[in-house]
Amino acid sequence: FPKVRHAAPILSLPNAFSVEDLQDWETRNLKLLPAGTQLDYTLEPKLDGLTIVITYEHGVLKQAATRGNGELGDDVTANVRTIRSIPLKIPTRPDGPTPPPLLVVRGEVLFLKKDFEAVNKRQAEQELPLYINARNTASGTLKQKDSRITASRPLSCFVYAVVASGGIKWDSQWETLEYLRDMGFPVAPDAGYFPTLSHIIQQLPTWESRRHRLDFEIDGVVIKINNLRVQDELGFVGKDPRGSTAYKFPAEEMTTKLTGVTVNIGRTGKVTPTAQLEPVFLGGVTVVNASLHNYDQIEKLDIRLGDTVIVKRSGQVIPYLFAPVIGARDGSETAIQPPSLCPFCNTAIIQPEGLVDYYCPNITCPERVYRSLEFFVSKGAMDIEGMGGQTVKIL
Ligand code: IVH
Repeated sequence: FPKVRHAAPILSLPNAFSVEDLQDWETRNLKLLPAGTQLDYTLEPKLDGLTIVITYEHGVLKQAATRGNGELGDDVTANVRTIRSIPLKIPTRPDGPTPPPLLVVRGEVLFLKKDFEAVNKRQAEQELPLYINARNTASGTLKQKDSRITASRPLSCFVYAVVASGGIKWDSQWETLEYLRDMGFPVAPDAGYFPTLSHIIQQLPTWESRRHRLDFEIDGVVIKINNLRVQDELGFVGKDPRGSTAYKFPAEEMTTKLTGVTVNIGRTGKVTPTAQLEPVFLGGVTVVNASLHNYDQIEKLDIRLGDTVIVKRSGQVIPYLFAPVIGARDGSETAIQPPSLCPFCNTAIIQPEGLVDYYCPNITCPERVYRSLEFFVSKGAMDIEGMGGQTVKIL
């Protein structure tokens, strides 16, 4: 793509991972500002897509570029023109504000969750490989040489900042978001204004659950000092502005190595494979095994022993093995087969006609008996207080 020089440096964001990090961030900023400065903030979803910088001249879309190295980006104008939510002409409403002669906005290009699922459904129908990661797929889609391919995939965009505006200045980030919205730009829902950092901190727990209900993927929230003059005054360190920070959620997706598969037998005799993993820190805990559902799934996803695999965990859900990274194979990986004998009682494993699951058919299998009793005493059944799996095992 031809290179484009950005109207102003396209900065990144520093990261905070805890409430303490946020408080330190505010303390550092207050030390640089005149005594008695009061800081108010905006809180916005941190959209998990890729930066786009769009230039409008007299309200007409003239150019769109990727972030690149922050100074020079790739000219992806033809592709961006195919994104429905990006206006080709502003304002989009007759009563919207008149745009300044030059307006450069910054936003994030991404797939809405439902659109990414639809893209994958189409791939599956055509027996083509599924896309694993929405963000990488959005990036690949935006950087297509043939804009007809970009047009065939439903990308979306949300705008969150003004990079240049021919001298017009807004006092605050909150006003900027309102202006962009009035002009007809798509602005991410759920952004909020808060008078103090304590208010922001109170909001954080709700965001970690809210993220799963949003129409798009986020990997955190962005906290910005609302007063844009103060933002300017604080300046930046390297490529990170001092006046804004990202509060990152614990990662929900990681890659690691599949080192083994253990076989579990349930109370009905059902065989469930469990992935043994090289330990990986995911969603705030160290994960060493993950659910593999069943052998049918292993075959469909073509998961092999020794594979580098993507493991996901959202909220309190049990971690599960999402997909192998085919490109990371070195040829030493081996196929995973269902067991031929039950590892607990040596009975031949069966696959009943028409079912995807395998079973140990022995009703006196010690593992089946144990799992049955564990279920019998559990909360959902007889709810025998003080009697759990551990006690059943001892008895
Ligand atoms: S503001 C100086 N706001 O996160 C302004 N960035 O990890 C810096 N991002 O490169 C950006 N949502 O691509 C901002 N609401 C949001 C954002 C956001 C996602 C991205 C952006 C940035 C990256 C930094």
